[in-house]
Amino acid sequence: MEALRLTGARLVPIAADAGGLDVDALASLLAREPVRAVYTTPHHQYPTTVTLAAGRRLQLLALARTHRMAILEDDYDHEFHYEGRPVLPLASGDAAGSVVYIGTLSKVLAPGLRIGYCVAPQPLLERVVAVRSYTDLNGDRTLEAAAAELLESGEVGRHIRRARRTYLARRDALVHAIASRLGDVLRITPPSGGMALWARAHGVDPSAWMRAAQARGVAFQVGRQFSFEARPLPYLRLGFAGLDERGLAEAIRRMALALGDLRKQ
Ligand SMILES: Cc1ncc(COP(=O)(O)O)c(C=O)c1O
Repeated sequence: MEALRLTGARLVPIAADAGGLDVDALASLLAREPVRAVYTTPHHQYPTTVTLAAGRRLQLLALARTHRMAILEDDYDHEFHYEGRPVLPLASGDAAGSVVYIGTLSKVLAPGLRIGYCVAPQPLLERVVAVRSYTDLNGDRTLEAAAAELLESGEVGRHIRRARRTYLARRDALVHAIASRLGDVLRITPPSGGMALWARAHGVDPSAWMRAAQARGVAFQVGRQFSFEARPLPYLRLGFAGLDERGLAEAIRRMALALGDLRKQ
């Protein structure tokens, strides 16, 4: 958000629901005022993890074409999709050159690499390369060459397939642990992909719970951190990729203890 603000953009939030980005709300906005670009994470909406519904994908591409609006498609964790057929990026159905497709090696290999990629119309890419070169003339060529070798040899593909199985097992372990220990306070729909779960909290203030959980040595994010206006929202985002099954069960045990601490106060 701040990166976009730094460009001088005026940001306008668009709601998301169980079908992903509310494309009708975007259409209403477009009817009122021009919009240069929409930033979106259609594969696994950030932070709710929802995949953009098929009809909305078409509607969004059509809106972009009609209104000459760019779609910034941030496909940051598409490698990890567990259910149904793989979902193709919006960019794959973009005949009008509206989509700027952005991916990263941060989730697949490591965030510290700082390597990402962009697929976009040539004039835009030339501009991006120029702007990037003002702050970083060379990039890390050695690291990029090493990453390219891993990609070309198929090693990254093999790693993704292994990691996908691991993360699916971790997702299921987290879902199971929540159902057995926190079923009365957290409502969840297991995410069909990604590395985190979005849960609705009932009868507990997520921020207070977060603080109590930190005291018990476990951390998670809360709805307010993702609200455009920093409003409290009754949600938690729980990452599951970084802990094994036993670690996840322990994290949920501690969250339940923290809830007990909170209720005794
Ligand atoms: C929504 C979203 N986009 C992109 C990224 C990856 O950003 P980067 O490639 O700069 O590490 C993340 C990482 O957490 C993310 O949450």
